[in-house]
Amino acid sequence: MQTRKDYILSLEADKWLFHADLLVDKAHVVMLKEQGIIKKKDVAAILNCLKKIDSEYFVEHKLPSYEDVHTAIESVLIREIGEDIGGRMHTGRSRNDEVATCIRLALRTELLGVLKAVNELRNVVIEKAAENVDTVMPGYTHLQHAQPTTFAHHYLAHADAFARDFTRVMSAYERVNVSPLGAAAFASTGFPIDRDRTAKLLGFDSVLENSMDAVSTRDFIIEVISCYANLMTNLSRLAEEIILWSTSEFDFVRVPAGYATGSSIMPQKRNPDYAELVRARTGTVYGSLMSVLSICKALPYSYNRDLQEVTPHLLTATKTTASSVSVIKSIVEELELKKEEMVRKAQIGFTTATELADTIVRETGFSFRTAHKIVSSLAKQGVAIKESGDGSEVLREIDDVAISVIGKKLSKHGLTEKKLNKALDIASNIEKRNVKGGPGKRELRRMLRTRKTDLDRDIKSRDTKEEKVRRCLEELEKEVKRKARVIRVIKKIRS
Ligand code: ARG
Repeated sequence: MQTRKDYILSLEADKWLFHADLLVDKAHVVMLKEQGIIKKKDVAAILNCLKKIDSEYFVEHKLPSYEDVHTAIESVLIREIGEDIGGRMHTGRSRNDEVATCIRLALRTELLGVLKAVNELRNVVIEKAAENVDTVMPGYTHLQHAQPTTFAHHYLAHADAFARDFTRVMSAYERVNVSPLGAAAFASTGFPIDRDRTAKLLGFDSVLENSMDAVSTRDFIIEVISCYANLMTNLSRLAEEIILWSTSEFDFVRVPAGYATGSSIMPQKRNPDYAELVRARTGTVYGSLMSVLSICKALPYSYNRDLQEVTPHLLTATKTTASSVSVIKSIVEELELKKEEMVRKAQIGFTTATELADTIVRETGFSFRTAHKIVSSLAKQGVAIKESGDGSEVLREIDDVAISVIGKKLSKHGLTEKKLNKALDIASNIEKRNVKGGPGKRELRRMLRTRKTDLDRDIKSRDTKEEKVRRCLEELEKEVKRKARVIRVIKKIRS
């Protein structure tokens, strides 16, 4: 049973913010010193104690149980160095700007991780596509055999979806990496703080200016979880295909042993549980998005405690998305393809019907609608269309159908056995489709090249962001060291 006090605690989700909170404390205190708001020796004492808290209390359960991580850290600080010094850290700020800053810092790190994982996934999917330019498979619409294609074409479609996910998350990062620090409760502060300085020390790209907006908004969270929801949707579609492909009905793939489980009763089973969980957890992420939207809806400005309730959903959505991307990446990497089965199935279901209708148009000059009627009638009658071989027999069958549909024989209007055989040949069906974006080999090779170039570019732009953050935080640590050193000098002089 929860106590009254337990009801408002956020310490559990706040563990995620612990490291970020110490960074915020350090940057704020460094700035307070530079602005002459706190004295040198007090700054040194606070910074040294923060270092101690960082190393000693990082094991989360050691933090005393206060309302949240911010009060817990400040309380430890005051307990260690006294209120007269420790009590100065919170000058010119509030937990409202503090928590908003912490969430953005912690989320920034997570986003860089998600972006990296998405690029790794893209890399594997593109690699597998490159290995399977010649792997023929049936393409589907309505989950019915539609037209032949290649595994490369199919996988490149997924790769492009993941590339857009990358772009969306990168764009959201721009709205995440801005600093609300210094907004204080909402009305900023009368102390001469320097918001640009703390933003720079923390590696933010800019300051979230309006101090009321800075503490009130969680739209960056809604945006990020929306990106996750989209990414999870794309993952779930690939997961679902892998699940279907691994059934006896499809039999296109064998799910890697590490990502399948047996049954407690049926000894023969190899169930694709991991892919199923990705499919299910897509729902979990949608749930997080709906929760955050509902919590933020109609909230009056500025800060309300409702906002605390957003953080755990962001955390759940983030962890779920990041781990799902990695799981799908590994499954794709190790997935065993049953290529013969794919080619065999591509012959079933008259997947060359479209090309046959197109050939009739090209060779006879009849309209596409007329050709469609003839081939459709052919398919309905269940005439045994041969993939290749005895073209004369097939031509006779088509002529019979054409007579019943349009009263004319197609062989009298230019359709030859040779053209017919070509139309019914799966490989030449695919090869013909070299229109921009099609599954023809030339197009596939070109798409593979551009996708690899795009991926390299995206890897670099992500790395640049990570590098900028790393350099800024390194600079912050140097500042902290410089300003913390004073106390040792003072101590030495005294002794
Ligand atoms: N734990 C709070 C949160 O996550 C911190 C801010 C509390 N501010 C306040 N005015 N009560 O939102």
